[in-house]
Amino acid sequence: MPNAGITGIGSYLPPRVLTNRDLEQVVDTSDEWITTRTGIKERRIALEGQAASDLAVKAAEKALEDAQLDAKQIGLIIVATVTPDMFFPATACLVQDKIGATNAAAFDLEAGCSGFVYALSVATQFINAGVYQNVLVIGAETLSKITDWSDRNTCVLFGDGAGAVVVSNIGDENRGILANYLKADGSGGELLLVPAGGSRLPVTKDTVEKRLHYINMNGSEVFKFAVKIMGCAAKNVVKLAGLKLSDVDYLIPHQANRRIVDAAIKRLKLSPDRVYMNLDKYGNMSSASIPVALDEAVKKGFIKKGDTVLMVGFGAGLTWGASVLRWIK
Ligand code: UT7
Repeated sequence: MPNAGITGIGSYLPPRVLTNRDLEQVVDTSDEWITTRTGIKERRIALEGQAASDLAVKAAEKALEDAQLDAKQIGLIIVATVTPDMFFPATACLVQDKIGATNAAAFDLEAGCSGFVYALSVATQFINAGVYQNVLVIGAETLSKITDWSDRNTCVLFGDGAGAVVVSNIGDENRGILANYLKADGSGGELLLVPAGGSRLPVTKDTVEKRLHYINMNGSEVFKFAVKIMGCAAKNVVKLAGLKLSDVDYLIPHQANRRIVDAAIKRLKLSPDRVYMNLDKYGNMSSASIPVALDEAVKKGFIKKGDTVLMVGFGAGLTWGASVLRWIK
């Protein structure tokens, strides 16, 4: 029986660093407020002209190298993003061309900050159904391009980056991806959105003047939702895998706010030293947060062969989801 597992991983962060101190010069905020309310100290910002596909390609090339695969061996590319290069073609198609994955199908997946977990789940289905041997899953974001730099409620939160994994058929159901769990509640869509630029409110002078092409968020409502569903997603996916929370060696949560994660792990009775956080360096990178954190946790030796790893995402939609896997490398 085919079974999906992560066989390669890589990430890319643009070199430009924007610190909380820098932001003090931009809006009425302080390093102290941002640090205590979010845990973020700095974030990366893509260069002018650097789009999501540019970050995605760099992460993808590292993941392919780690998996020791040629791009031509990839059957499908899924890019999870809320900041595609453009409406169409899909960012995944741009990546396919740039890396020379000439045998791959390619599409984008939009599930807010849960995008990576959603895409990993889709890849798992394709592998387990025997359709593809190797799928490239990328979370890539240039949130700085849709951030309102005059809105202190949101501009301190987000950052740019990309993470990628190669998901392959490892043919062993006791290792690799053990279970995925996905959910959505569209009634909460108004809590986190970019109001204009789509077919509901196409671009006009008026929409631009009203700054409707930027991220708009009801922070406190999203906060409450996130704490609640992190626990629910974690418990459900672990149960689907036939495990208990105490079997989890490492939790990689979506990196939105330190306080969200602290509250959720307290409810789950998980020890903070089993949770990997890098939000202080990168802020919230939406679909890219989880794969970048996973890559770092592996490279730093926190996650080792045989470890059970839980990933939990949540965000716009509203969407949430979780994956549990046994690390195979
Ligand atoms: O990726 C998934 C989606 N996103 C999230 O998960 C984010 C979820 N939400 C959050 O992380 C938090 O709600 C925020 C960090 C966005 C805000 O923290 P909060 O503790 O919920 O603050 P608040 O929105 O209740 O605002 C408290 C005060 C307000 O002032 P008043 O009205 O009490 O006078 C804000 O105007 O803090 C003020 N404030 C700021 N002050 C300094 C808001 N942003 C800032 C800022 N600097 N950057």
